[in-house]
Amino acid sequence: LYRARFDIVYHGYVRRDPMSRLHLKPGRDNPYAIYDTVRAGGDLVPTRLGNYVTASYPICSSILRDRRFGVRSSEINGPGAPGDSLDMSFLDRNPPDHTRLRRVAQPAFSPRQIGGYRGLIERSVDELLDRALAKGTFDLVPAFAAPLPIAVITDLLGIPEADAGRFAKHGATIGGAIDGIRGLRHAAELKAASDALDTVLTDLITLRRQEPADDAVSHILAAEGDQIQSSEILPMCRLLLVAGFETTVNLIGNAVNALLDHPAQWADLCADPARLAEKAVEETLRWDPPVQRTARCAFEDIEAGGRVVKRDQFVITLIGAANRDPSVFSRAGTFDIHRTPEADHLAFSGGIHYCVGAPLARLEAVIALQRLAERMPNLRRAGAIRRRNATLIRGPIEFPVHADRR
Ligand code: HEM
Repeated sequence: LYRARFDIVYHGYVRRDPMSRLHLKPGRDNPYAIYDTVRAGGDLVPTRLGNYVTASYPICSSILRDRRFGVRSSEINGPGAPGDSLDMSFLDRNPPDHTRLRRVAQPAFSPRQIGGYRGLIERSVDELLDRALAKGTFDLVPAFAAPLPIAVITDLLGIPEADAGRFAKHGATIGGAIDGIRGLRHAAELKAASDALDTVLTDLITLRRQEPADDAVSHILAAEGDQIQSSEILPMCRLLLVAGFETTVNLIGNAVNALLDHPAQWADLCADPARLAEKAVEETLRWDPPVQRTARCAFEDIEAGGRVVKRDQFVITLIGAANRDPSVFSRAGTFDIHRTPEADHLAFSGGIHYCVGAPLARLEAVIALQRLAERMPNLRRAGAIRRRNATLIRGPIEFPVHADRR
């Protein structure tokens, strides 16, 4: 059941398709060399299962913004089956459902709401860094990069006393599963992880129906029956929860990893954290983005990149490749926090599905990097990183480091 669900709705079959052709392997250190081989094959490269893949920035950017493409075939639009535990709400819907549902969630991410999180983020970052400094040697992911976004998104949703360790583990299982299910044991793990998060969310929804508060879940419930059906509430909360922490943890991890690999730039950041943290975050989003690709399905026959994408064919848009397109970015393969990029990166996608949480992710990552550089300028590796077992989501899952109190 899970396999079928991913194959059809999550266009997992498309996702496995480039993998068999491009030999993308989970946890691989350098998918970018593989993307270069796609680029060398042309703007739109046919895949074995009859879709297309593109590494071109102009093509990715225009397809993501083109309303003649959707996230799934127009044939299977509409709500997921009731109780479907992998339904990811509007991330996975075409208009008009997408428009209607996104409007319900959007107010929780207004600039005023996001700005209100600065204090919580600063406090969480400082507490985590105090604890890490007391240890000296620590794993950056469970000690810093994961608990921060979990603290923020659980507060935003109104989840009381979230267990960050458990959330991180379940999130990694769900995030990794987007690559495809590797067998029965993996399917069982995935079911257990999504059931555990759903139980937390279902309890919360029941509580907020009785006692509304000033949190995102209460605001979503206020729209129930009018803009959102009862069966659509849990999937929306699930989307916000998982999207809220499964990606930002990788942004922080990828940024620190890139900076420690480029010690002169880490030194620059430590010399001027207030100015350079934001630039370091943006360059990480370009050079090593947490979400490496997405896909779009044509609603009609469409000409693109010198080919015709037929109705119901998918185009896999390789975000990680587009961000290093040498026809757009100078020294595209070089990590440089001082650059003024020639174009906006596509790390948060584009068009109607542009990441609703982008301002929040940016705020978290900028404060995290700034405070890390201020408080741990002598941060160094204490072992090799281990990458998460996924090709769509990219980031470290183990990142041993050491920092001394100064
Ligand atoms: C959509 C990336 C953080 C919530 C997306 C998409 C990308 C993305 C690429 C679009 C997928 C597509 O076009 O098919 C990221 C990255 C993040 C991040 C790289 C962190 C560095 C967040 C956060 C939240 C969030 C903190 C907040 C809860 C969402 C939601 C959508 C989305 C709700 C669906 C938007 C739609 O379909 O209209 N994100 N995201 N994301 N993101 Fe994020």
